[in-house]
Amino acid sequence: MSPKTRIYLQPTPVRIWHWLNALGIITLCVTAVQIRFPEHVHMFANYKTAILLHNAAGLVVTFSFTLWFIYYALVSRNMFKVYVPSKDDLQYGILRQAKFYLLTYFLGWANPHHPTPENKFNPMQKSAYLAIMFLLVPLVSLTGLLLTNVSPMRDLVLLIGGLKILIAIHFLLACSLCAFLFTHVYLATLGKTPMAYIKPMWTGWEEEGAEEHPHKAS
Ligand code: HEM
Repeated sequence: MSPKTRIYLQPTPVRIWHWLNALGIITLCVTAVQIRFPEHVHMFANYKTAILLHNAAGLVVTFSFTLWFIYYALVSRNMFKVYVPSKDDLQYGILRQAKFYLLTYFLGWANPHHPTPENKFNPMQKSAYLAIMFLLVPLVSLTGLLLTNVSPMRDLVLLIGGLKILIAIHFLLACSLCAFLFTHVYLATLGKTPMAYIKPMWTGWEEEGAEEHPHKAS
């Protein structure tokens, strides 16, 4: 039996950021439900506790985002390469990957993307993560920070269109992030085994062949 080859795909700062961020975002979603529907949802002791937890989780997400940004922009310096889709990705790669997720996965084919440290995301992941990390997470954090501290930034809040518009923007951005989370977790389980992609996000190392189909004949 040949020894299994492994590749180091997820450096420690990225893994710390990812799980802190996931914990923060899940806490934000759960507390938000009680804040939005206080008369129907009573998961936390009271409304004030839900707000306190929501604000603390928001700070965790903002802090971990800063860690992610510093790591990619100043330490590994490959943010552009890892996160920005190439011309080929946009022309052919996204379609190829969508065909896999929507059709060929169910026919038992292997994932067409083979990750390497410099090209660890498939074209759909690149496009989705680009929108999430450069648009959604910064905007949801910024609108959240504004909402926790309205008076010093009153002029900015008025410029946006007032408090109601700010709340609506924050709510819609958060709903998109929540929708991403469900899709992201589902797609993360489509490796050779349900944990084949999730384990490397914990240990850093991915086993070669993690992208093979779970029901591939051996
Ligand atoms: C329980 C929740 C989560 C699970 C199980 C999970 C799982 C994973 C896995 C397996 C990867 C490895 C790469 C891949 O195959 O896509 C990954 C990467 C990633 N996840 Fe998540 N994730 C979760 C929550 C989140 C949340 C809440 C966000 C953002 C709002 C997020 C954003 C990302 C990004 C941007 C990457 C790429 C990281 C990098 O290598 O630079 N994830 N996630």
